[in-house]
Amino acid sequence: MNSLECVWVAVNIRLLITSELLVGCTDCISVLPAEPQVQIGTHTFTYDYVYGSSALSSSSVYNDCVAPLVDALFHGYNATVLAYGQF
Ligand SMILES: *[C@@H]1O[C@H](CO)[C@@H](O)[C@H](O)[C@H]1NC(C)=O
Repeated sequence: MNSLECVWVAVNIRLLITSELLVGCTDCISVLPAEPQVQIGTHTFTYDYVYGSSALSSSSVYNDCVAPLVDALFHGYNATVLAYGQF
């Protein structure tokens, strides 16, 4: 993570849930190998981190994105974590 950046954006791609699978939904997001990028149709989006699907394990979201901010809080910095989206 680039500590000089003030805003980091991470995306977590969750697995399809049963009700989605039952109605025939399929994954529409592909993760570009070794890049924090996702592709949806012909559009490519770049983030600081991409989790889930074939990207990094989503269990590392806290360690990568939040723990450094908690540590910084105890060194006098302010930080905000905004988590948004369906789960
Ligand atoms: C953190 O926020 C407080 C309250 O707004 C402010 O007084 C303080 O200067 C901020 N600290 C830093 C390091 O920006």
